[in-house]
Amino acid sequence: MVTKDFVSSLFSIEGKVAIVTGATGALGSAVAKGYGYAGAKVMLTGRNEGKLREIFEEMKKEGLECAYSVGDPAIEGDAERIVRETVDTFGELNILCCCHGLSIPKSILEQSTEEWQGIMDANVKGVYLFAKYSAQQMVKQGKGGKIVITSSARSRRGMKGYTGYSTSKAAVDLLAQSLACDLGEYGINVNTFNPTVFRSDLTEWMFHNDNVYQNFLKRIPIGRLGEPEDFVGICIFLASEASNFMTAANVPVDGGYWGN
Ligand SMILES: NC(=O)c1ccc[n+]([C@@H]2O[C@H](COP(=O)([O-])OP(=O)(O)OC[C@H]3O[C@@H](n4cnc5c(N)ncnc54)[C@H](OP(=O)(O)O)[C@@H]3O)[C@@H](O)[C@H]2O)c1
Repeated sequence: MVTKDFVSSLFSIEGKVAIVTGATGALGSAVAKGYGYAGAKVMLTGRNEGKLREIFEEMKKEGLECAYSVGDPAIEGDAERIVRETVDTFGELNILCCCHGLSIPKSILEQSTEEWQGIMDANVKGVYLFAKYSAQQMVKQGKGGKIVITSSARSRRGMKGYTGYSTSKAAVDLLAQSLACDLGEYGINVNTFNPTVFRSDLTEWMFHNDNVYQNFLKRIPIGRLGEPEDFVGICIFLASEASNFMTAANVPVDGGYWGN
C-alpha cells in the first residue's frame, strides 16, 4: 500500500552498511560521500592507502560514519578479509557498490596478454570476488541486500583499443544478470549502471580538447559529458528499497548515448 511513511522512506539508506570499492577514485569517492551523507555507514576500500586515508579523513570531518581497509579487489583473500572487517566494524553488510576499474586503451597488436589479463582481473574478477563474499554474508544475515556494479556504456560498444575494457564491461553486465539469478531467492538485488565518459584523472584531458569533446557530444543528446556526482543518485536508488523489484538490469546513465 502506498502510504506517506512508505514514500518517505522509499529512497532511504540511513543506517545501512555499505562497502564502496575503488573509493580512492573519482566515482568511488563521490559515491562513498553520497552514501555517507545519506546516512549509511561506509567501508572505503582500495589499494592506495594514502588516498584512502585522505577520503576517510574528509568524510570524518563531515561527521560521516566510515572506516577504511586497504586491499586489491582481484585478490581473493583481500575481498574476503574486507567483507569480514566490515561486519566486525559495523555489525552487518547491506550494500556492496563496486566502483573500482581499470582501462588501458591499446590495440591488440600492441597490448601484451598480461596487460589484457590485468584489465580482466581488475574489472571482472575483482567484482566477482567482492560479490561472492558480500553475497555469502548477506545470505547469512537473511535480510536481503543490494549489489551495485559500475559497468560502462562501452559494454555494448566496441572501440579501437578496447579489446580489454569493452570485453571486461560486457562480462560485468552478464555477471550481474547471472548473480541476480543466483541471489534473487535471498532478496539480494544485483544491477549495473553503465556510464558514458565522466570526469576523472584519466578523462580530464577530454574536457579540455574541444574537438574530442564536441565529437563525443554528437552521440550524447543531453549535451555534455558526465561528472562523478551524476552517478550518486543511481547508486543510492539501486541501494534503496525504491529498487526492490529491479534486478539483473544494466542501467544506462549516459546522457542518452545508448539510445542514440
Ligand atoms: N571515467 C569514465 O569516463 C568512466 C566511464 C564509464 C565507466 N567508468 C567506470 O567507472 C569506475 C570508476 O572509474 P573512475 O573514472 O572513477 O576511475 P578512477 O578515478 O581511476 O578510479 C578507479 C579506482 O579503481 C582502482 N583501480 C585502478 N586500477 C585497479 C586495478 N588494477 N585493480 C584494482 N583496482 C584498481 C583505483 O583505486 P586503488 O588504486 O586505490 O585500488 C582507482 O581509484 C570504473 O569501473 C570505470 O571503468 C568510468
